[in-house]
Amino acid sequence: MALNWVRVENYEAMSRLAAERAFDAIEQRLRENHPMLLGLATGNTMLSLYKRLAGMLNGRGFDLSQLHTVNLDEYVGANGQWVSADHPLSYRGYVQKNFFSRLDLKLGMNREHIHFPDPTRPAAMDEWIRSMGGLDFQLLGIGFNGHIGFNEPMPEAAISVEAFAALPSRVVGLTELTIDTNARLTAAGDHSKVPRQAVTLGMEAILAAKEIVLLACFPQQRQPLCRLRQGRVTPELPGSYLINHPNATIIYADDQVGLEEGP
Ligand code: F6R
Repeated sequence: MALNWVRVENYEAMSRLAAERAFDAIEQRLRENHPMLLGLATGNTMLSLYKRLAGMLNGRGFDLSQLHTVNLDEYVGANGQWVSADHPLSYRGYVQKNFFSRLDLKLGMNREHIHFPDPTRPAAMDEWIRSMGGLDFQLLGIGFNGHIGFNEPMPEAAISVEAFAALPSRVVGLTELTIDTNARLTAAGDHSKVPRQAVTLGMEAILAAKEIVLLACFPQQRQPLCRLRQGRVTPELPGSYLINHPNATIIYADDQVGLEEGP
């Protein structure tokens, strides 16, 4: 199946549709009495989605004891460990605040089922995901430079298309653009607050997800999406790897991203 493009009016319409897609995937999997592996992204794109998804799950009252979440990434401090969950940029703190704290306790979400790649042994995450049969549903945002997770663009001269697709979960240095963007959007412009490293799920685990939904809602994401629409898979645009995925959808907010009609 080709990559699906879904144009919606604005941020709230994007968040509503994405929450419905995630909810349907969770419902189907749990109904079949299988563990559900839900891949989570963080960032400004996802804020309303998590509120809506928590509301939908609370409203339906599912038993979530079989739900596992796997976050894409977390910042890593100079000591090689996750930054503390109360660091202002921590993604562990983000999902707790924006999603898990909103879930009704009686749904039975098991705190031990909240997974993040571990910078001290990132390969363990890939092995565990593989042993569980892969991620069932992966939510993605897209960096202004086209990154997914913290898989940052690499020049074609440095890595082949295939080798980039096979990248494992690992600790990465962040690009200046990402540090700058995150400083502006989440640290009031203070570069010193943005850690220089992160641990990210690798391209391989992300691309092996059975379903991927990527969301875009900022004007700066127009350029990477326009390049993606040209249909060429390249390590210089990590998001372009969705082109060959069997079940991937890009939902974009037309009022901000404003792509022309048609792929
Ligand atoms: C976050 C992540 C990143 C973001 C991307 C967009 O877990 O992995 O790839 O999805 O940087 O971030 P926002 O939504 O803040 O524009």
